[in-house]
Amino acid sequence: MNPADFLALISRRHCQRAFIDEPVEREIMESVLLAAAQAPSGKNTQPWKVTVVSDKARDGLSAALCAAFDAGEKQVSDYEYSLLPSPGEWKDRARACGYSLFELKGIARDDVEARKAHGRENFTFFGAPVQLVFHLPAGAERGNFLDVGMFMQNVMLGLTAYGLGSCPQFSVAGYASVVRESLGLAADRWVVAGMSVGWPEKEACVNTFVPERLPLADFVDWRE
Ligand SMILES: Cc1cc2nc3c(=O)[nH]c(=O)nc-3n(C[C@H](O)[C@H](O)[C@H](O)COP(=O)(O)O)c2cc1C
Repeated sequence: MNPADFLALISRRHCQRAFIDEPVEREIMESVLLAAAQAPSGKNTQPWKVTVVSDKARDGLSAALCAAFDAGEKQVSDYEYSLLPSPGEWKDRARACGYSLFELKGIARDDVEARKAHGRENFTFFGAPVQLVFHLPAGAERGNFLDVGMFMQNVMLGLTAYGLGSCPQFSVAGYASVVRESLGLAADRWVVAGMSVGWPEKEACVNTFVPERLPLADFVDWRE
């Protein structure tokens, strides 16, 4: 493969948050997951596990998550996602990303209801027919999370190659107990993240959203 084509595929992957009502063939999911599992992992431990949720199970999970969200249930994830307090520049980027997405969706900053509805879309999986739930043994360490992250990125790139869209979702992991209960996952599994997967709705404005990236010099330094 031409390197430029592969780099273009990497650059083409951006979160999709609107999907058409069309199933994803199991064969595609299997081939993507199989290839994704070529991801590196510390000492080849391959710690990732993924539950592929579709059809009735998908609807059940979505209903349980929406019920928790609508009831205002407090989100309790199995692990802390980020450094706390976040460095100022991370906060700035997160804020800028949120505001530009709202702007694109025509949501005013002070429109609490519209912002809430936007958040709730995480739990209808943006209309995607498949939700992937990535999990690890309870007590997993940072290295294990690194490995799962590489697996997840491979999954997203594989999906992109097929023209499928995806959106990784920590929001789903925010209701870890709901996820475990709905999917019958053991209590000793930690929910790392969800991921919506489906055929992108091409005309949806939200799917054109590409948050700005930093210039090379801001995140790379060289030693010679
Ligand atoms: C681990 C992880 C969790 C995320 N959780 C969510 C989420 O819950 N909801 C959402 O809409 N986007 C979520 N995102 C997507 C990020 O907002 C997105 O990757 C980032 O803004 C960069 O945009 P891009 O992926 O479209 O290039 C998550 C991304 C990652 C890597």
